[in-house]
Amino acid sequence: MHLMSSPSRRILLTGAAGEIGHGLARALADDPDVKVIAVDLRDPGKSIRKDIDELHMGDICDRGFVDHIVTMHEITEIVHLAALLSTRAEHVPEKAHEVNVDGTFNLLRIAAEQAQSFGRVVKFTVPSSIAVYGLSPQEKALGGKVGLDECLRPVTMYGANKLYCEALGRYYGRHYRSLTSDGPPPIDFRCLRLPGVLAAETKPTGGTSDFVPEMIHAAASGQPYECFVTADTRIPWMTMPECVEATLQLLQADSVAQCVYNVASFSASAGEVEAALKAHFPDLQVTYVPHEGRQAMVHTWPDDVDVSDAVRDWGYTPRWTLQQALEDYIVPAVRRQYAST
Ligand code: SER
Repeated sequence: MHLMSSPSRRILLTGAAGEIGHGLARALADDPDVKVIAVDLRDPGKSIRKDIDELHMGDICDRGFVDHIVTMHEITEIVHLAALLSTRAEHVPEKAHEVNVDGTFNLLRIAAEQAQSFGRVVKFTVPSSIAVYGLSPQEKALGGKVGLDECLRPVTMYGANKLYCEALGRYYGRHYRSLTSDGPPPIDFRCLRLPGVLAAETKPTGGTSDFVPEMIHAAASGQPYECFVTADTRIPWMTMPECVEATLQLLQADSVAQCVYNVASFSASAGEVEAALKAHFPDLQVTYVPHEGRQAMVHTWPDDVDVSDAVRDWGYTPRWTLQQALEDYIVPAVRRQYAST
């Protein structure tokens, strides 16, 4: 929270109550040049209130609500995190489309109007996801890293929504009204395609990559864990501190050659995480009872992704291996978390 009267960066943070929202708000809290205006449908709770400057509760699909906030605060940047994740979205696909696509469109459109009225570009950052991929069983069996433009055949509503929002952002950021406008596009659009994200401080909900974070929280709280995918199910991962750091790095890079970048730190299967966790929590008990639908979804996601564009263009550095992530962040943080509850 800042006492300075007019910070030059006024950031609208949607989905502030979610896992990444908490991490980003914390990371931005000490920057005197940043004012964070948080938006969420639900109250993000006490823990985040000290880190934000203002909170507005409301729906990002409500045009009047968003327009009012963007104009009132003369927003210069939008970090748009609000979304229904892949498992939740499969239960309410039409609602997911409303939030994930209509909500993003609403924000992009209002940001473009704001940019035009104030004569300055609005920066717009949004996470995408490995759910944009849709590997065939043969492609999945090959393993290895998948490139940015390969196998883009999402099988989930969430993945389809995210892939479209990448394209929509690219339109606003690079090609807006290309036939009639002679100025620069109104939006500086930047998107991180995230792998499964591992947070020690919060428990995930609604995602299909939740099997590893759930296993971690079960280990730390001494509960047995019934894993909803098979032990050999493998996707790429990063920790929450790395996710927050990469988001800030991308946000702060002077200019970027691409609109969308893959990021990830390591690739690991559920069974490998179980084995690595047992070095810290020897009593952990995991059984594998695959859920047919969720297993099928994860099976279309790559084992790993190629992050070389992000490394080259804005200095992204994968920080940790699985073992290092457990030692340096996850295990100490999750132990603290459960010691204090
Ligand atoms: N974590 C997301 C999900 O499981 C994937 O990016 O839906």
